[in-house]
Amino acid sequence: MNDAISFRPMTEADLDEVLKIEFAAFSHPWTRGIFSDSLKSYHCWLMFEGQQQVGHGVIQVILDEAHLLNITVKAQSQGRGLGLKLLEHLMRQAHGLGAKDCFLEVRASNQGAYRLYERFGFNEVGRRRDYYPGVGGREDALVMVCPLFD
Ligand SMILES: CC(C)(COP(=O)(O)OP(=O)(O)OC[C@H]1O[C@@H](n2cnc3c(N)ncnc32)[C@H](O)[C@@H]1OP(=O)(O)O)[C@@H](O)C(=O)NCCC(=O)NCCS
Repeated sequence: MNDAISFRPMTEADLDEVLKIEFAAFSHPWTRGIFSDSLKSYHCWLMFEGQQQVGHGVIQVILDEAHLLNITVKAQSQGRGLGLKLLEHLMRQAHGLGAKDCFLEVRASNQGAYRLYERFGFNEVGRRRDYYPGVGGREDALVMVCPLFD
């Protein structure tokens, strides 16, 4: 498929489709309430392939520091480079808003996401013990950071 990739800001009207993608892709999905609150406080983006909505991402920017809070590619569309394109878009936005670095937390078991972040240029800088609720108990978060250049 060679449909063009495009991005636009998320709105409240997009949340039904966002939640479908989120719930199918994630073991611990964000709820409608979390997305609604994020729309008021953070920068929330959608990714399209042609006309089809294929992913979303949320970043928080405070002064010169960004945090990647959510990045999700539709389950059926994963493994084709869309995650990297979405991450690149979100980091360009963060840089444009003045961020010099981006931080994120990732579940220690989420190797696919970890590899994506490493490929982009993130480095692991710490671990938060028992940060996430897990299926059989709590799970550690790995903290990663990436400098944002032009
Ligand atoms: C993490 C996530 C966003 C990655 O999205 P994605 O679109 O699958 O990412 P990419 O396609 O860019 O990369 C995934 C893999 O596909 C490979 N790939 C990329 N383009 C490819 C292509 N054209 N052909 C074959 N493989 C390709 C990549 O090398 C990568 O392989 P690896 O994981 O073995 O290193 C996605 O898996 C997801 O939404 N997961 C659920 C939500 C989640 O965990 N989010 C992160 C929370 S911190």
